[in-house]
Amino acid sequence: MRKQLNIQHNISLKPYNTFGIDVLAKSFIAVSSVEELKDVFTLAEYDTKFILGGGSNMLLTKNVDALVVKVDLKGKEILSEANNTSFVKVNAGENWHEFVLWTLENNLGGAENLSLIPGNVGTAPIQNIGAYGVELKDIFHSCEALNTETLALETFSLEACQFGYRDSFFKRNKGKYIITAVTFNLTNKTHQLNISYGAIEAELKAQDITTPTIKDVSNAVISIRKSKLPDPKELGNSGSFFKNPVVSTQQFDVLIKNHPNMPHYVVSDSEVKIPAGWLIEQCGFKGKRFGDAGVHKNQALVLVNYDQASGAEIWDLALKIQQTVQEKFNITIEPEVNVY
Ligand code: EPU
Repeated sequence: MRKQLNIQHNISLKPYNTFGIDVLAKSFIAVSSVEELKDVFTLAEYDTKFILGGGSNMLLTKNVDALVVKVDLKGKEILSEANNTSFVKVNAGENWHEFVLWTLENNLGGAENLSLIPGNVGTAPIQNIGAYGVELKDIFHSCEALNTETLALETFSLEACQFGYRDSFFKRNKGKYIITAVTFNLTNKTHQLNISYGAIEAELKAQDITTPTIKDVSNAVISIRKSKLPDPKELGNSGSFFKNPVVSTQQFDVLIKNHPNMPHYVVSDSEVKIPAGWLIEQCGFKGKRFGDAGVHKNQALVLVNYDQASGAEIWDLALKIQQTVQEKFNITIEPEVNVY
């Protein structure tokens, strides 16, 4: 017999978003199977749905006047193992970092640089999570997603996902699909480590590790992240609040004349990426606190909720930062998080 849908009303979303913003959901349901998810979409009385994964990439500025659907699909399995490749299928509601730890226990390589990123497996492809020289797309094989109009499960290949920097087909087509499971492509014998990112090299050197394992790389990433990024369990935050802006080479030539120390990465012949954290720090915001909203002391790209900040207060701070960066550098920085 089908499980009865357990819809609750006027539920605080504070435990469900890593910023720790206390807003109410008009209605709320946690779904633990694809069948249940489909059933939710047949409910005529709840015409607007708000899909929630790990709640790690959103800023809630008001009560959610919709049915909040928390995707709680659990489970992971190794589908096949051959020729140094293991295909691993993971359901959307699994916690991302627990999945990474599980890959290490099973000697599966590829996800180690993505250690300690908050959020769930099913939301990771939406913004193509990335850190320390690796992006989700590098280990992604395919995913299954529920088409919210036809209620059919569809499979998306790597190409179909159109991954870009913190971007994907799913990000550009909000509300059309809900990712239910992701299949990864991991190495199981010889691992190709990606340790060229300066901070990883330095951390491994500091620990006297010359021939690192995937576990060593993961540990290095964990210690770098812990030193720079606040733990959402201790201090509400959503990771990088802004994306790193990309400017034209012409604009960059002018900027670097005026700011010779500006860090930058060449993206292509015509574009250069500039770390938003540096721009924000130059504007004097690093470590600043305005009521309970603030800019993290170790990484200016991260906005924090000291305890009781409202989403609107954090958003006001974000706008103030955006405007100051615009005035000082003539660069527009765009939020990375989803603002509701
Ligand atoms: N910087 C500053 N001041 C700051 C922060 C950074 O001057 O307050 C400078 C650093 O000195 C460095 C440069 O900016 O020269 C880059 O800093 P970092 O290595 O910390 O990386 P990031 O560009 O600020 C990105 C990702 C992070 C990811 C790191 C490491 C985005 C928006 N953010 O940050 O991702 O962990 O690289 O790969 O691309 C996230 O998306 O939530 C996230 C934390």
